[in-house]
Amino acid sequence: MPEPTPETLDAHATDAPSVTPGGDRPRYRTQPVSFVRRSGRLAPRQQRAWDAHRDRYVVDVPRDVARTSVDPDFVLDVAGTFGRHARLVVEIGSGQGEAVVAAAEREPDTNFLAVEVYTPGLAQTVLRASQRDLTNVRLVQANAAELLATALPAGSVDELWVFFPDPWHKSRHHKRRLVTPSFAALAERVLRSPEEGDDGRPGGRLRLATDWAEYAEQMIDVLDAAPGLRNVHGPGGVAPRFAGRVLTGFERKGEKAGRVITDLEYARV
Ligand SMILES: C[S@@+](CC[C@H](N)C(=O)[O-])C[C@H]1O[C@@H](n2cnc3c(N)ncnc32)[C@H](O)[C@@H]1O
Repeated sequence: MPEPTPETLDAHATDAPSVTPGGDRPRYRTQPVSFVRRSGRLAPRQQRAWDAHRDRYVVDVPRDVARTSVDPDFVLDVAGTFGRHARLVVEIGSGQGEAVVAAAEREPDTNFLAVEVYTPGLAQTVLRASQRDLTNVRLVQANAAELLATALPAGSVDELWVFFPDPWHKSRHHKRRLVTPSFAALAERVLRSPEEGDDGRPGGRLRLATDWAEYAEQMIDVLDAAPGLRNVHGPGGVAPRFAGRVLTGFERKGEKAGRVITDLEYARV
């Protein structure tokens, strides 16, 4: 086990390390992550929903080095998790669950997997899903990059959604941004390629939205250059607002601050 470098300590500051049984030294992530550690305190309503419905909605995944890590040997049984085979939409950084729950209610024939690290956000999503008695939503508390790298089977995802990922404004923090060339490779890995299967379903789509203009440019640069993805609106093109995306509190704040919202859409090729 190498000594933690400032970078890995920095990463450690964002997520609790796992402590190995027997009192071994804690182990740390070696890559920066795109989130910070926040209070996990739940409001009373969230706590009640969490206690009553967590087992129904939250998928437990085996961990690796940190609380929100994923054991690289773990592969999710998607059909078993949802109890059926269906189109799969994965939302990364689902926040309070507004988008994923609205979509799941609208499209009962599609399976929706919400990936989020923030416990109150997950609890709020459980609350919303349980109020509607949804059967087609599941949640995973994990660093999405790790889930995409190994836990989701290759080619298993019909749509991958990344709405308003943390922009990490300061240039010294840009290394924490979620959408990087390595993320593009992970998206390519999980998105269904057009040749996959014989059920006539099209290839997978990656949909993104941001209210941070400079991050939108970075997304376009990175994703236009990804060999397995095609910008549906032409090189450098932006998409019209995705009709399946409801207005979240986060987007509302961006609009109020006068920021322009950019939508992007990529097809797996
Ligand atoms: C700015 S918020 C946007 C939330 C939501 N998509 C919306 O539009 O309201 C970004 C969310 O992404 C989550 N997040 C950031 N990095 C993540 C990662 N690597 N894996 C899972 N969730 C992540 C954060 O906890 C936060 O809830």
